[in-house]
Amino acid sequence: MTLAMPTELDDHKMKQIIDRYGTPLYLYDASIVKRKLDALRSCFPQRTEIFYSFKCNPLLGIAQLLRKNGCRVEVASGGELTAALAAGFEPGHIVFTSPGKTEEELRLAILHGIYSINVENLEEIEIVQKLAELQGKTVDISIRINPEVQQHAASIKMSGVSSQFGLDERLLPEAIDSALRLSRVRLIGFQIYLGTQILQADAIIRHFEDTIKLALAYVERYELDLEFLDIGGGFGIPYFPNETALDLAVLKQGIAEVWKQYGNKLANTRIAVESGRFLMAESGVFITKVLYKKESKGSTYLICDGGSHQHASSAFLGRYIRSNFPMRVLGKIGEGEEVTVTGQLCTSTDILGNKVKLPKAERGDMIVIEKSGAYGLTHSPVLFLSHPLPAEVLVEEGHSYLLRERGEYGDFLNGQHPISQ
Ligand SMILES: Cc1ncc(COP(=O)(O)O)c(C=O)c1O
Repeated sequence: MTLAMPTELDDHKMKQIIDRYGTPLYLYDASIVKRKLDALRSCFPQRTEIFYSFKCNPLLGIAQLLRKNGCRVEVASGGELTAALAAGFEPGHIVFTSPGKTEEELRLAILHGIYSINVENLEEIEIVQKLAELQGKTVDISIRINPEVQQHAASIKMSGVSSQFGLDERLLPEAIDSALRLSRVRLIGFQIYLGTQILQADAIIRHFEDTIKLALAYVERYELDLEFLDIGGGFGIPYFPNETALDLAVLKQGIAEVWKQYGNKLANTRIAVESGRFLMAESGVFITKVLYKKESKGSTYLICDGGSHQHASSAFLGRYIRSNFPMRVLGKIGEGEEVTVTGQLCTSTDILGNKVKLPKAERGDMIVIEKSGAYGLTHSPVLFLSHPLPAEVLVEEGHSYLLRERGEYGDFLNGQHPISQ
């Protein structure tokens, strides 16, 4: 099963939106988000709930779009929790996962009575108990487990290895004992998060099965009611020519086989899948205008009005291997020349595309960087050089909606010296 990605954002429409909102600009197509959501849903048993991973794109309007289309939400900070509530998510549809939740964040989660605080270490369980007592509440928690072994070929592993994430499986008996002993916490389930940017369907299927098996083993041993099982996600998308899309047909079939075996044991369990990148990445583009074209020592540079401080992922900040995001020149076709696309920053890492083949571009042309809907602005060092934040616009059924206004010069003015006036 392949996922064709037709878009209502043709070049003409993009030009109209650029004329209206300026550049640099993030632009999202709601129809792609909905298609990706349907595709992901179709791979899992019908009653699986998809939790939108807020971190991948924390725009309120995007979160609202996903809520409107039936998603729940997974947050990773007090700020995301506040924003999720502002986007209209019911507390019963929110889970909170983070290896370093502050007491302030936990208080907030308890205050709003979210569905599950996914705890990641022994001390956190005690702290939840203490804070719950202070608020006179009983709090539902799930334990995020870091399993003993994890043999699947996840591209970026976040479990089965030594890490700050989750509770090592060897500590699980102690954690369960503690949760069962404490009066103000109620253990409702488990979460295991495999990793991110996983393109191997088989790894996700095996993870699904192993997670169920592991959870059921502890359920039996401790006679627990398993109300919640969060199998995580990490569904990837192909960014680069050497990558192949996640095979959804294989995923669907494999998950169905696992479910046939275990589904009846989970009849009363809420099943959660988390996703950010898969839902959002392909729905968005980053558009930046060529300010100058210049030659330097045999290479051609397109210097643009948006850079790595607004799209760090495309400049491979935080990546080990340099690969160019797919990009094109708006309204032009062909492979006219090799260019290096840069932003305006005073650092040589500010390269959006290194020696890419693009049609001949000139001052005023628009560079469109594809697959930019997830981990774009939110994953970027936006304060560097104090440029205004780019506008962010969503197109849905022919209408465009401004989700974030372009910032102003001076937006980042902050922290005056108290005695300097
Ligand atoms: C616990 C957890 N859930 C969900 C996600 C979202 O991952 P992705 O955007 O790959 O779907 C992450 C990302 O790191 C994560 O750590």
